[in-house]
Amino acid sequence: MINSLRGMNDILSDDYERFTYFINTATTIAQRYGFHFIETPLLEETALFKRGVGESSDIVGKEMYQFTDKGDNDVCLRPEGTAGVVRAFIQKKLDKAGGTHRFFYHGAMFRYERPQKGRLRQFHQFGVESFGVESVYEDASMIMMVHDILKACGIGHRLQLNSLGCSTCMSPYRQKLINFVKDVEDKVCQDCARRLQTNPIRVLDCKNTTCQSLYTDAPKLINNLCSECEDDFANLKTILDQNNIKYEIDTNLVRGLDYYSKTAFEFVSDNIGSQSAIAGGGRYDRLVEFLDGKATPAVGFAMGIERLMELIVMPEKTRTGYYIGAMDENALSLIVKITHKKRSTDKVSLDYKAKNLQKHLKAADKVNAKFCAIIGSNELKDATIWVKDLENKTESTIKLEEF
Ligand code: HAM
Repeated sequence: MINSLRGMNDILSDDYERFTYFINTATTIAQRYGFHFIETPLLEETALFKRGVGESSDIVGKEMYQFTDKGDNDVCLRPEGTAGVVRAFIQKKLDKAGGTHRFFYHGAMFRYERPQKGRLRQFHQFGVESFGVESVYEDASMIMMVHDILKACGIGHRLQLNSLGCSTCMSPYRQKLINFVKDVEDKVCQDCARRLQTNPIRVLDCKNTTCQSLYTDAPKLINNLCSECEDDFANLKTILDQNNIKYEIDTNLVRGLDYYSKTAFEFVSDNIGSQSAIAGGGRYDRLVEFLDGKATPAVGFAMGIERLMELIVMPEKTRTGYYIGAMDENALSLIVKITHKKRSTDKVSLDYKAKNLQKHLKAADKVNAKFCAIIGSNELKDATIWVKDLENKTESTIKLEEF
């Protein structure tokens, strides 16, 4: 027997209902916020992620599904959605056009991680990216959108917030941090020793407990922001307060992708185990320029759909549509015809075998139909159909032409 690859799941039945319910809910809300759908390829040039997400990130450094295709191109399955959307934005010359451009997307992402509960190798994200707005109101609007989506899905959460500063405040801060970590360099884990060379601020979110205790007194970026970043962060907090959005400041929140500046945020759930991040995002004002576009401020987020599927409170199922069946073999072709017509307006389940009434009623109940409509030999003779409303428990026999 051939099974799916490790960390790659099928989505069907109940899971599929949760999956589509989430996407439909998130889509409705993203559209209310003025975002438009974008679809980008699953496969991109590897260089896009190396430059976009950053070679020092785990995602690019260790987790890419990278290969050489038959045309000798170095390609990889996308590990995240932002870099591809930025590439499309530049390729379509929207950076040169100016103005505001807001996109949402959903689809599969691939990271060669060690699979565990909540951590897959192929997983799905719902994400949004907004280009052209410098104002911190847009950052707040992103956070409010995640908040609205989670609320609509009945998902409790905590919001963690940080500011990663801009190029003005980041360089002096980086040096301060390097000086601090250098003093304890012989005690830090191998990953942190590597991070110190590639992207020092990533040491701050190291999960190793020894490293965490070593960094307790490390300088905090939030205390080293330039005045512009400080004002932006203060404004962001005020906007969130005014809109009753609760948050915690997490000075070690640096995110696992290198493109962020200023606002960084993560939504976590305390109900799904160690892989608790259900959404993450922030501002990435330098990325468009980094990928050879015209400098454009940008901000966005992505939500992990598989993690959210565990938490969604689904609305109560209501009975919908019809179940149509025959009790007489001779009525089978007639019910196929009726079903085809009825399907132009309603959902219809059809049984191709003639059965007794009890069996049909049971099957109609199983598919959660509102009406069970049956043709037996009498109905066939009289050109009628017997219909039971399974919600109100009423029954009637009606003329086929009125059905
Ligand atoms: P990210 O934090 O890497 O951000 O991923 C966003 C979300 O995807 C996570 O919070 C988590 O729910 C889910 N996720 C990540 N890895 C896995 C995995 N291996 N298995 C299951 N779920 C996972 C980004 O990807 C950025 N592109 C977000 C962004 C958009 N920033 C600005 N715009």
